[in-house]
Amino acid sequence: MVDPEDLAREFERAFGRSPRLYRAPGRVNLIGEHTDYNDGFVMPMALDRSTWVAAAPRDDCTIVARSREYGETMTIDAGTQRPQRPQRRHWVDYVRGVSAVLSDVARPFHPSTSSGCREIRGADLLIASDVPIGAGLSSSAALEVACGYALLDLANRPIDLVQLARACQRAEHEYAGTRCGLMDQMIACYGREGHALMLDTRTLERRWLPLPSTLRVLVCNTMVKHQLASGEYNARRADCEAGVRVLAQRFPGIRALRDATLAQLDAVRGELSDQIYRRCGHVIAENARVEAAARALGDADFETFGRLMDDSHRSLRDDYEVSCLELDAMVEIALGAGGYGARMTGGGFGGCTVSLVAAGAVDDFRARVAERYLERTGNTPDVYICTASRGAEACPL
Ligand code: GLA
Repeated sequence: MVDPEDLAREFERAFGRSPRLYRAPGRVNLIGEHTDYNDGFVMPMALDRSTWVAAAPRDDCTIVARSREYGETMTIDAGTQRPQRPQRRHWVDYVRGVSAVLSDVARPFHPSTSSGCREIRGADLLIASDVPIGAGLSSSAALEVACGYALLDLANRPIDLVQLARACQRAEHEYAGTRCGLMDQMIACYGREGHALMLDTRTLERRWLPLPSTLRVLVCNTMVKHQLASGEYNARRADCEAGVRVLAQRFPGIRALRDATLAQLDAVRGELSDQIYRRCGHVIAENARVEAAARALGDADFETFGRLMDDSHRSLRDDYEVSCLELDAMVEIALGAGGYGARMTGGGFGGCTVSLVAAGAVDDFRARVAERYLERTGNTPDVYICTASRGAEACPL
């Protein structure tokens, strides 16, 4: 875990003055996968693992960013900069993207600044994270949101969390090349202790659902990350958009898969490839599952919630085709180890599963999952018991 005081001391040694501290959490999505870029519903919770930024302003327009995890220090301009081509997905590109987009977003409201840096000032940043990187727990959104929060605060800008989340999403599109939805950035901003967030990604209406103390959320890391994930992600999004174009011709009210029913999808089946039909079917059914899961949670009906998670996983595996052998193995093992339900979480192609487990069964569950996954794959999985936590914030030292 990151110790904030330790981080502040490290900053003082590196940059010779005291920092302010900021953090933004990773997330696990309980249900509602690949629905957010279809105007649908999602139900993530913020993890008790965060990316931390120790930061202090500079007098020039330079951002000096140092990453503890990567052991690198990089220097970039604070103002608008073009994305690197081709996109490298280097950690500093997220910082570059956020500072560039925030400068751009802020400009119409604050036309000029005396520093000449446009809207974001130069800053020294020391970044450290205990969100596992590349494990599907949104380490990149945590990095973007923590840096964005820090840069706005150092520039004495008001922090509007929706605007910050959107700016970070745009940075991800333009500077990392993934055409992601808004789920990860919104939960990094709006996490709440002890609650999952039911988010309508069209209206951005937010409902915090209390997680009962008898329930535990467990994340099992398959320890694998398959390449091509970003290209496959964008391809899924393109399939959904192609489906919407056909649906909208027949049913003019449909703007996104959020608006369609399975009956409407069946009505245009003859005009869709089998692949697009299955992709759209997943999204439409998954949206309904999120709403059903919210009701089940309210009724403390964890069996139903668990069944919805199982259905979600099957649909992601067979119709959306974003799972992989290791995720399927982990889900099967988790179900045999006594969870209410289990599914892959996040974009897919490796990373983590999420399981709901009765509080009293957690120790057994962990031991069984670790043993069986090792037997089956030769890898020792990390299993995290997750506590729903707060979203991004400045942390007093
Ligand atoms: C990634 C994206 C999110 C969302 C999920 C899948 O985490 O960043 O916007 O689309 O995949 O649900």
